[in-house]
Amino acid sequence: MRILVTGGAGYIGAVTAGHLLDEGHEVVVLDDLSTGHRQAVPRGAELVEGRVQDPQRLSRALDGADAVIHFASLSLVGESVREPLRYFRENLGAALSLLEGMASAKVHRLVFSSSAAVYGDPQVEVIDEDAPCRPVNPYGMSKVMIETILAEQGRAHGLAAMALRYFNACGADGQRGEDHRPETHLIPRLCEAMLGRRDDFVIYGDDYPTPDGTAIRDYVHVLDLARAHASALGHLDRPGLEVVNLGTGQGASVREVVDTARRILGVDFQPAVAERRPGDPPRLVASNQRARELLGWIPRDSSLERILQDALRWHRAHPDGYRGIV
Ligand code: UFG
Repeated sequence: MRILVTGGAGYIGAVTAGHLLDEGHEVVVLDDLSTGHRQAVPRGAELVEGRVQDPQRLSRALDGADAVIHFASLSLVGESVREPLRYFRENLGAALSLLEGMASAKVHRLVFSSSAAVYGDPQVEVIDEDAPCRPVNPYGMSKVMIETILAEQGRAHGLAAMALRYFNACGADGQRGEDHRPETHLIPRLCEAMLGRRDDFVIYGDDYPTPDGTAIRDYVHVLDLARAHASALGHLDRPGLEVVNLGTGQGASVREVVDTARRILGVDFQPAVAERRPGDPPRLVASNQRARELLGWIPRDSSLERILQDALRWHRAHPDGYRGIV
């Protein structure tokens, strides 16, 4: 298949683009490189540099495409709370332009990069896709709104779409890893701290109602996410929207993540504990039954050990992230 990957210079987009090429697909990446990295775009993919909202660039990128995977998005929760209008304008604007472009190019298959942020703070052991969507920040709200639009476009114009709701994406694929600026995520910040490149790493809160007091998340390896996107492309045969969680079904606390990294590196590392980060729920763990049944998806690389080994290796090899790569 010829697949347009919007945001294919970003973290999950680039790993997925690489995986699709390995599977023998043709890949076109559309990315304005505002948060993505040119060096992350895999060799073998065609890069169209530009915004999804630019009709000319979009139509060039869509030329001959059989399907689209839409990653291009602003994706920082805290930033979305401070700048809601920018998040709604950018994320909704890109999605609307993409759908218009796809309709005129007669491309009817779409995989959409959604998020566990759609659920907000559901207060259940494991979250399945029927849990109500009650996002608590503009980032999550923008994802819910786009999912709603996709369902309507399915009814009106036959779009076959799948929204993949990622839990905590992490890890690296050897060549590509996580390089956000600023970096807010636990695992890359921890790797940088443990490799001596950051001295402001703290655990946000140890007074949560969890066994060790730190917050619990469902960490899923970016390679497993990439495989799920490839499978999703093969399941876009009916108009309408399917939503699918991508997580392991297993939670890990911040302390467990820190302890695992410490064991791997064999170093003594005792981070300080600070206040809770505002808006962080105590526990977010996915039910992945639907992904298993519908996509035959099994998260193969998502043990904490594997995730941290891969992330640490990538950060050690790329002290300046993608900037160090020509
Ligand atoms: N944390 C720390 N120290 C840090 C960074 C994070 O203790 O330096 C903690 C956080 O408080 C949280 C956990 O580590 O308890 C994970 O935090 P991340 O920032 O890595 O991830 P989040 O769970 O906050 O966010 C993720 C995705 C978002 C998505 C959200 C869904 O990155 O895109 O899940 O709720 F919106």
